[in-house]
Amino acid sequence: MAHVKIFDTTLRDGEQSPGVNLNLPEKLEIAKQLERLGVDVMEAGFPASSQGDFESVREIANTIRSCSVTGLARAVKSDIDTAYEALKDGADPRIHVFIATSPIHMEYKLLKTQVQVIEKAVEMVTYAKTKFDKIEWSAEDASRSDWDFLTQIIEKVIDAGATVINLPDTVGYTTPQEYGRMFKYIKENVPNIEKADLSAHCHDDLGMALANSIAAVENGATQIEGTINGIGERAGNAALEELAVALKIREDVYEGRTGLVLKEIKRTSDLVSKLTGMHVPRNKAVVGQNAFAHESGIHQDGVLKNAQTYEIITPEMVGVQSNNLVMGKHSGKHAFKDKLQNLGYELSEEKLLEAFTEFKKLTDRKKEVTDDDLFTILTEIQTQTVDVKKYELSGFQVEYGSAQVPTATVQLTKPDGTEIEESAEGQGAVEALFNTLDSMIEEDVHITDFQLNSIGSGRDALAQSHVKLTVDGTEFNGRGSSQDVLEAAVKAFLNAVNRGFYYQAPVQAQGVSS
Ligand code: KIV
Ligand code: ZN
Repeated sequence: MAHVKIFDTTLRDGEQSPGVNLNLPEKLEIAKQLERLGVDVMEAGFPASSQGDFESVREIANTIRSCSVTGLARAVKSDIDTAYEALKDGADPRIHVFIATSPIHMEYKLLKTQVQVIEKAVEMVTYAKTKFDKIEWSAEDASRSDWDFLTQIIEKVIDAGATVINLPDTVGYTTPQEYGRMFKYIKENVPNIEKADLSAHCHDDLGMALANSIAAVENGATQIEGTINGIGERAGNAALEELAVALKIREDVYEGRTGLVLKEIKRTSDLVSKLTGMHVPRNKAVVGQNAFAHESGIHQDGVLKNAQTYEIITPEMVGVQSNNLVMGKHSGKHAFKDKLQNLGYELSEEKLLEAFTEFKKLTDRKKEVTDDDLFTILTEIQTQTVDVKKYELSGFQVEYGSAQVPTATVQLTKPDGTEIEESAEGQGAVEALFNTLDSMIEEDVHITDFQLNSIGSGRDALAQSHVKLTVDGTEFNGRGSSQDVLEAAVKAFLNAVNRGFYYQAPVQAQGVSS
C-alpha cells in the first residue's frame, strides 16, 4: 500500500470560510487535535496576511512536534520572509508558495505573461530555498491552466528547489477524468517529477472535490490536501475524513492509504464544528449524526442479523462511541482525571480543578454526564482567552407566556466592574434577550445567523448555540453552551461581541490562558 500524505488546511483554507474566525487558543486546540489525528502536514495560516495569523502560525509551529507545520506565502519576498519568521523554530518547517498559472488569472489578476510567471516562480522558489529545505509550490488554478505550460514551469521550480508540486482545482471546476488525466500528463511529461511529491487540492463547487482527489491518487498524486468536515472557501474543500475512510474501506480498489488515526476522526470533526460554528449536516458522509442510523424496518432487521448487511463503516472505526455514558454525581476527582486522560487531555492542576468544578456543576443538573458533555466543558476551558471580555453576563430574567409579549431583563458587568441593566421586548424569548443585549452594547451589532443544537440526546442534554453577527461592520461568530437554551443563546451572543472586541485588541492581549 502506498502512503498517501495528508496535508490539512483546515486552519488556512478552512478558516477562509465566510464568517469563520478562530482565535489563537482555538487554532491551537485544533492543531493539537490534527496532530493526534496524524496528519503529515498542517497549514496553520497565511502569516503575511495579518499580525494575528502570524502569531497563530508561530505559536502552532512552536507547539506541534510530530507533524510538519507550514504557512502560505504569495510569490513575494516579504511574504516568504514573514513565513520564515513564523515557522523557523518548528520541528519540521516548510513553506507553501503559490502563483497563478491559468490564462485568466495571469492576464487579469497578475498582469503577467507565461514567461514572466515562470521567472517570478523560479526567483521566489530559489529565494525560499535559502531559508527552507522543504518547499511546496502551488500552481493556483492549475485545472484551468495549459498543460504544456504547467510542465515547463513545474520542471523549473523543481530545479529551483521545490519538493512538493501542488495542482489545485482552485474554483472546483474540474472532473475526475480530466483531473486524473492532468496528473498522468504531468507525471509523464515533467522529466524531474520524481524529485517531488505531487499534490492535489480540490474545491467542492460542483460537489466533486472528493472524487477529483481520488482520481489524482489513482494517477500518481502522493499527497492530498483538504480540510476537516470539508469546510473552506465557497463550497469548501475535499473532506479529509471522507478521503481517509474511502481509501480504507475500498482498499480492494485503491492502492493508497493515509496514515490518519481513524478513531480520532469523530472528535476532530466535533472540535472543528464546535469552534468554527460550521454545523455538520446530519446526513454528512462519515461524521454526520445519521451516518450510522438505520431508520427503515428492513434495514434495522438486517443490521440486527448481521451489521454488514447495511453498514459498511462501523461507528467504532471513526471513533463514534455507542455507549458513552461516563460519569455522574458521585464520581470523584481521581476518576475524573483518569477519564480525561483516557480522552487524551493533559491538563494543568489549575485547569483540572476548573474542569472538575464545571463538571460538578453539571452533575447537579444532569444525571448522566457523557463524553460529549465532557468534551464541551474541556473545549470551553482550553480555548478561553485571557481577559479581553468587554461584557460579562451577571444574570437575566425573561417574562414569557403564550398570551403576552415576552420581555427580557439582562444584567451585564463591564471590565471596570460597573453593573448595567436593561429591559426590552421581542416577538419571542430569544428575540427579547437579543434586543435587550443590543440596547446595552455600545458597538453597532447586527445578527446574521443564529443556531441552537443539542449536544447528545435526552431531555437534560446540553444546548449549544452559535451566533454570527457583525460588530461595527465586521462579522464574528460566537458560541455558548448551557443546559438552558436561553442561557446558551445569550452566552453565544456575548461571546461573538467579545470576540469582536478581542480582535481589535492588541495582539499581546490574545494570549493563551494556560
Ligand atoms: O485553492 C487554491 O488554489 C489554494 C492555493 C493557495 C493553494 O488554496
Ligand atoms: Zn484552496
